[in-house]
Amino acid sequence: MAVPALVPPRLVFLSGAGLSAESGVPTFRGADGLWEGHRIEEVATPEAFQGHPEFVHRFYNLRRAALKMVEPNAAHRAIVRLEREWPGAFLHITQNVDDLNERAGATRLLHMHGELRKARCLACRVVMRWEDDLEITTSCPSCGGTGTLRPDIVWFGEMPYYIDEILRALETVDVLVCIGTSGVVYPAAGFVRMAEQKGCQKRIEVNLQSTGVDGRFTEQRLGPATQEVPRLVEALLASFTAKPS
Ligand code: OAD
Repeated sequence: MAVPALVPPRLVFLSGAGLSAESGVPTFRGADGLWEGHRIEEVATPEAFQGHPEFVHRFYNLRRAALKMVEPNAAHRAIVRLEREWPGAFLHITQNVDDLNERAGATRLLHMHGELRKARCLACRVVMRWEDDLEITTSCPSCGGTGTLRPDIVWFGEMPYYIDEILRALETVDVLVCIGTSGVVYPAAGFVRMAEQKGCQKRIEVNLQSTGVDGRFTEQRLGPATQEVPRLVEALLASFTAKPS
């Protein structure tokens, strides 16, 4: 009698600023975080952009320029290794707006909070690659409008991207891994609980410290992402060895 092939568990990774911290990209909260010295409503809301677009552009121009000074780290590379070697379903959802996952080779990646290296036109709605500074006088290469381009970043009060795909993945996920996120910004902060309610048995947190997100993790790996993520990836790959039927 043929033995049924083992079905590999479905993996979903959710990452936050802690994944890129050791590359030199500042996190948002905490001592030297980006929100230290900034009120979120001053830079990360549609109202802020309407009220003082120069200030908002300057904030994101600095972040975009800083990407030229950083490189992917061992944690980004380990996640890409898993994406390539895992025999089953794999999805990486990131709240990060940097491009370090792509530069490490990621393809099954969703940027739920947008991307620093993209701009969006409020007039023609076209989203385009953007490497340089944005100014209020910049013209849209697509429609020619002036002052219509904004960073393609999801601001507070706006709907994150890819929500339908994310919710679908959370319906069937077997192993959810949350890396370097403080778990205070919804809807991402609610993904652990949602996955648990849908029957996800293994919910792993990787962080410098326990965040206690809803108290819903089944496993914690506390330490820097560059150490803990490669170890976790090694363990996951070792845990599933498909047996021939
Ligand atoms: P936060 O700055 O809120 O949290 C970063 C988390 O990473 C914290 O829990 C740290 O303990 C952890 N951390 C820091 N360094 C680490 C390291 N080397 N290894 C492992 N963990 C480390 O960043 P996010 O949770 O990503 O949204 O923030 C979520 C959202 O809030 C962002 O996407 C952004 C922000 O406002 C928007 O701008 C819409």
